[in-house]
Amino acid sequence: MTDHIVVERRGAVQIVRMNRPDKKNAITRAMYAAMAKALTDGDADDAVRVHVIFGVPGAFSSGNDLADFMVVATGGDGGMEVFDFLTALATAAKPVVSGVDGIAVGIGTTINLHCDLTLATPRTEFRTPFVDLGIVPEAGSSLIAPALLGRQQAFALLGLCEGFSADRAKAAGLIYDVVPEDDLEASTLDLADRVAAKPPEALKITRDLMLGSREALVARIKEEGVHFRARLKSDEARAAFMAFMNRKKG
Ligand code: COA
Repeated sequence: MTDHIVVERRGAVQIVRMNRPDKKNAITRAMYAAMAKALTDGDADDAVRVHVIFGVPGAFSSGNDLADFMVVATGGDGGMEVFDFLTALATAAKPVVSGVDGIAVGIGTTINLHCDLTLATPRTEFRTPFVDLGIVPEAGSSLIAPALLGRQQAFALLGLCEGFSADRAKAAGLIYDVVPEDDLEASTLDLADRVAAKPPEALKITRDLMLGSREALVARIKEEGVHFRARLKSDEARAAFMAFMNRKKG
């Protein structure tokens, strides 16, 4: 288990908080495993009506831990924890609300593509530098982003790896709203309380109708994963990871 994921209950709201501030919430295998378990457990618990995902002030997440990527890049085992988490998130039975402040890189952005409501602060920047790192989009983002943002904005995000400010993300339909830093936690929990107060059966049917079958999404997550793991071993990716690891030296 890991101390880097803190799971709390607040009435009918289950809060999953990434808490690794010294690494800007870079996500490790143990963190994925803990988040997958929290989502699965929350879905199975009748007392939970909504999941909330938070990071820490200034860092929702800097993405997958690059040291873990390096392990795969150099022939090691990447484990299945990230897929367990993404599957739990993509197939979550209950609504998912996120509150994002500051850094939201890679999966720190793509998590939110699975959320029903996301609040972000003005200093938040959503960024998916997969292609710049020599790898490919994950978390079903190659399917969800074009559907959500339209082809051109999705290409700007996933192909050009442009950063999206919170305002741009809202205008593009990536997030629900922008709130000041000091209000993020309270506003996100208020939103979650509003969700939790709805008749749960009617809300579940409504959400399931909106999302439709998630088989294609889960299949895309797997398909992306095959490319992703192969690309982690590419010269392009290895060079990008080495550059990051060595950037503070000399
Ligand atoms: N994996 C592992 N460690 C990471 C990390 C990641 N994804 N992102 C940040 N860290 C670590 C840094 O190595 C640093 O550790 P150190 O203090 O032991 O050297 C610490 O977190 C703080 O990061 P730092 O780069 O000093 O903070 P910053 O505010 O200047 O920059 C980022 C923050 C997120 C912009 C920058 O760290 C970054 O670009 N990280 C990589 C993001 C990325 O490519 N993620 C993968 C996407 S697929």
